[in-house]
Amino acid sequence: MRVVLLGPPGAGKGTQAAGISQEFGIPHISTGDIFRKNIKEGTELGIKAQEYINKGVLVPDELVVEIVKDRLTEDDCKNGFLLDGFPRTTVQADSLDVELSKMGIGLDKVVNINVDKESLIQRAVGRRICKDCGDTYHTTFNPPRKEGICDKCNGELYQRKDDTEETVNRRIEVYLEQTKPLIDYYNDKGILVDINGEQLIEKVGNEIILSLRGE
Ligand code: AP5
Ligand code: MG
Repeated sequence: MRVVLLGPPGAGKGTQAAGISQEFGIPHISTGDIFRKNIKEGTELGIKAQEYINKGVLVPDELVVEIVKDRLTEDDCKNGFLLDGFPRTTVQADSLDVELSKMGIGLDKVVNINVDKESLIQRAVGRRICKDCGDTYHTTFNPPRKEGICDKCNGELYQRKDDTEETVNRRIEVYLEQTKPLIDYYNDKGILVDINGEQLIEKVGNEIILSLRGE
């Protein structure tokens, strides 16, 4: 199963990715997570990416495309993959098509999670992430058992720098300008699945899995 998760910032892509990845036994590849790991480790890539991410704008295509190309050639992608946050521009989508066709494969489905702007801001601003295992919570919609502490590993929870209301608004504008056109791009290819993301986390997850199974 080769899947792309599409949707605006805070739609629930990362939240849903864990269940999909487990259900189909495919790796979850989030370009945002790859950048954050590199920022944390202070790599050259992290230093370059940080200035864009903190402003809420996209990292240049050429930096992102190379990372994904390399990642898709790793062994664990042999039976498929789940891309979260890539592609985000038509240049990235075209590069992905070219790369996959060189490998003799193509995407099976693109899942588009729809959520209103007001909810996106609420979701992103209340999001908290475990600094050790990366698990994601929400202060209201998905709170940890103990405030500020990860349920799974007891790690400390933190707020992403780009999750302030101002930066989230900028990210939504960038999404509307540069990423939303991909909905038509994949719809025209006949592989787009629309999901209502304004439902409970479990309900959204069930709908995604059923649609990927073709049920
Ligand atoms: P990235 O990390 O990909 O951020 P994003 O796309 O803006 O998406 P988010 O991670 O903010 O949201 P999500 O949809 O994963 O939501 P989540 O599940 O966490 O990218 C960050 C930056 O990196 C970009 O701005 C860009 O600069 C750069 N970048 C990354 N990829 C790039 C690319 N390809 N090209 C160029 N630049 C790139 O959920 C959000 C919150 O809502 C959580 O608290 C969660 O608990 C809660 N929640 C989830 N579902 C529900 C629900 N159903 N009901 C209530 N609450 C919910
Ligand atoms: Mg995410």
